[in-house]
Amino acid sequence: MPSYAFFKKRYVPLAEAKISVMTHAFNYGTGCFEGIRGNWNADEGQCYIFRLKDHYQRFLKSCRILKIDLPYTADDLCQMTVKLVEMSAFREDIYIRPIGYKSSEIVGVKLHDLEDDIVVFVVPFGPYLEGDKGIRCCTSSWRRIDDTGIPARAKITGIYVNSALAKTEAHDNGYDEAIMLTHDGHVSEGSGENIFIVTNGNLVTPPSSDNILMGITRDTVIKLAQAELGISTIERSIDRSELYTADECFMTGTAAHITPVVEVDHRKVGDGAIGSLTGRLQALYFDVIKGKNKGYLQWCVPVHSKAMKV
Ligand SMILES: Cc1ncc(COP(=O)(O)O)c(C=O)c1O
Repeated sequence: MPSYAFFKKRYVPLAEAKISVMTHAFNYGTGCFEGIRGNWNADEGQCYIFRLKDHYQRFLKSCRILKIDLPYTADDLCQMTVKLVEMSAFREDIYIRPIGYKSSEIVGVKLHDLEDDIVVFVVPFGPYLEGDKGIRCCTSSWRRIDDTGIPARAKITGIYVNSALAKTEAHDNGYDEAIMLTHDGHVSEGSGENIFIVTNGNLVTPPSSDNILMGITRDTVIKLAQAELGISTIERSIDRSELYTADECFMTGTAAHITPVVEVDHRKVGDGAIGSLTGRLQALYFDVIKGKNKGYLQWCVPVHSKAMKV
């Protein structure tokens, strides 16, 4: 099945979406992006894109920070994306990657007086972290970059060098994922995920001021925990040592879904198995993103007007 892209205002096969080596964003990391999932519901022969407009609203905020000016509203981008996914006609889970970027072919470090453009592409995408039995994490020696350096609330391509350093350090040391701390030593987030702990019966996650991306999955978990389980989430700074004493820990992200963390820095989290609240949230979340929980269909954008044959 071919993948398609929206590139230079046209829908083209992905292989034709090519930029020059001189492109500003390629040289300087001056782009911002989103990661959006389309979740395949085999019973219905339907692909549901999860919280599409919320992703594009965050995308346009990232663009504002980077002075990327695109002639599209969030609704325009949603419509274009649905058309693109429909063309690609995958019968499996997919990932949608919009990138707004400085497209001028010019040498010079700046954000002003440059052309802006957007590309969106779609690829099949299975699990990102193998979360079935839970993952093993380490705290990274790389600190999360501060809002005073590159704002983490914007999904800026160049900022992901910080995440990549942490992820590969974790990988090379035999862990599944890294947990980055802020410069003052509080827990910030994973390389591509937000983090939650359960401690003393409370669900706790770092606040936006601890240099996190304001995750859409994070927000989904906060809302599901409240509405479905009557559990409110405390947003406060978390000390590193609280990771060692937590009863449960999990990471959230569009790619990672809800991934249980069962070990941090060679210490078991709780009893080293997937926590009960984590498991309940996972079950709720997977139903919701596949359009199986009718109470949350407002978050799920169906792509196909008619059911697709499996
Ligand atoms: C650094 C970082 N933190 C958190 C997240 C989770 O955000 P979301 O749930 O919106 O995918 C991501 C993924 O996009 C990320 O890259």
